[in-house]
Amino acid sequence: MKMWSGRFSQAQNADFEQWQRSFPFDRVLLPYEVAASQAHAAALAKVGILNAEELGRTVLALEQIAREEIPETDDPAIEDVHHYVESRLVELAGEVGYKLHSGRSRNEQIATDLRLYVRDQIDLISDLLVEFVGTFVNRAYSAGENCMPAYTHTQRAEPVLVAHWLLAYVEMFLRDLGRLSGYRQRLNQCPLGSGAVAGTVLPLDRDAIARQLDFDSPTANSIDATSDRDFALEFVQGLSFLALHLSRWAGELILYSTTEYGFIRLPEQFSTGSSALPQKKNPDALELIRGKAGHVFAAEMALFTTIKGLPLAYNKDLQETQQPVFSAASQVTNMLRVAAGFMASVELDLKRMQRAASHGFMNAQAGAAYLVCQGVAFRRAHELTGKAVRLCLDKNCKLEQLSPEDFSQCGIVADESFYQSLTLQNVLAVHDAFGGTAPARVREALRDAKHKLEIYSGAAHASA
Ligand code: ARG
Repeated sequence: MKMWSGRFSQAQNADFEQWQRSFPFDRVLLPYEVAASQAHAAALAKVGILNAEELGRTVLALEQIAREEIPETDDPAIEDVHHYVESRLVELAGEVGYKLHSGRSRNEQIATDLRLYVRDQIDLISDLLVEFVGTFVNRAYSAGENCMPAYTHTQRAEPVLVAHWLLAYVEMFLRDLGRLSGYRQRLNQCPLGSGAVAGTVLPLDRDAIARQLDFDSPTANSIDATSDRDFALEFVQGLSFLALHLSRWAGELILYSTTEYGFIRLPEQFSTGSSALPQKKNPDALELIRGKAGHVFAAEMALFTTIKGLPLAYNKDLQETQQPVFSAASQVTNMLRVAAGFMASVELDLKRMQRAASHGFMNAQAGAAYLVCQGVAFRRAHELTGKAVRLCLDKNCKLEQLSPEDFSQCGIVADESFYQSLTLQNVLAVHDAFGGTAPARVREALRDAKHKLEIYSGAAHASA
């Protein structure tokens, strides 16, 4: 029997009846629907709608429903997960099952179920992310003081510690963790007791319901609570940022895996061959991470588009906010699992990176900085060092291979300490402000990152 058949005298159009059902996708919300129903049942018992025996029977039957396999049914009476739980409850516990819907509405139920789902997904994804970021921190520790070129405009710019490069990703992903934990805090209010739109008609203890479901408090306004999907949108936005960062990481590693760069060797576990070209090992894992990010952004746009312009409060359009949330969550979960496995097994060619760090005139700026410390105006020092680079290009040599005479031809007095300023060691050492790549700074940054990560790994769920 449908939940709402009393007022109708005609049968529903068969196509419409199937088409409007959400059970094929909202079945994943069943554990949350059950938990929310148990909290509601307890509140009903407190106000005398269920007696102790009825409450016990209801709670037991709900527990059984949570254990059972969820059927794949096209029974039109099973419109959604809320109908399913109620009708199964009646099968298991009898008439008392019909009492459960007293003082509540599916509008508050779906708002609650979806919040609980998003909260769990935030915890799951944060755990995976902490593990992934951990692989960067480990890698950064074992890279020691090895160097590599840092690029701007995809051209060699300055040498940096490999650890410094890895920590750049740590920063990005820590921001993602921070975003998710902020969203979790904001969403952790319980819509139950909001009714269809104006609030429940029974004197239910909303604080107790919220507590039972580990929410911090009940939501403050029934109209907002039943129509709000900001928490879903924020979650998917947070995932979009994360997918964006994963795609940049993947894009860079694809570049670094080419013969041209040769900074990393692709792990066979995460690569595929070519059906046509026997010699090939392709970075498919990275390419798919980069590619699948698109699905996550699409989910964000789908939510914006669905919610835009909706008058208060609940509208059936809101049913369409579920699938993008489920899809983005599962895409990101899978991306992270593969990314963490990849990162733990990829080989960095530290020797080749180190060699690349001392080619490309990346010590020119440090040379100019030395001249600045000798009192030369920076613009002039830049010009003189540029001339020296020009001379190197003509002579096909490195800056430090020019003779003092060559330098003096460019207007530079090249004494012993000038040559000293051009060494890789010095080039790194002069970047000694907070956030820079001087080895001492990177050691500090590494300790700091490890500490932040420890806080997240202990506290991914702590905002509850
Ligand atoms: N399946 C519905 C959804 O996901 C549940 C809420 C239905 N509410 C209603 N008033 N028809 O939005």
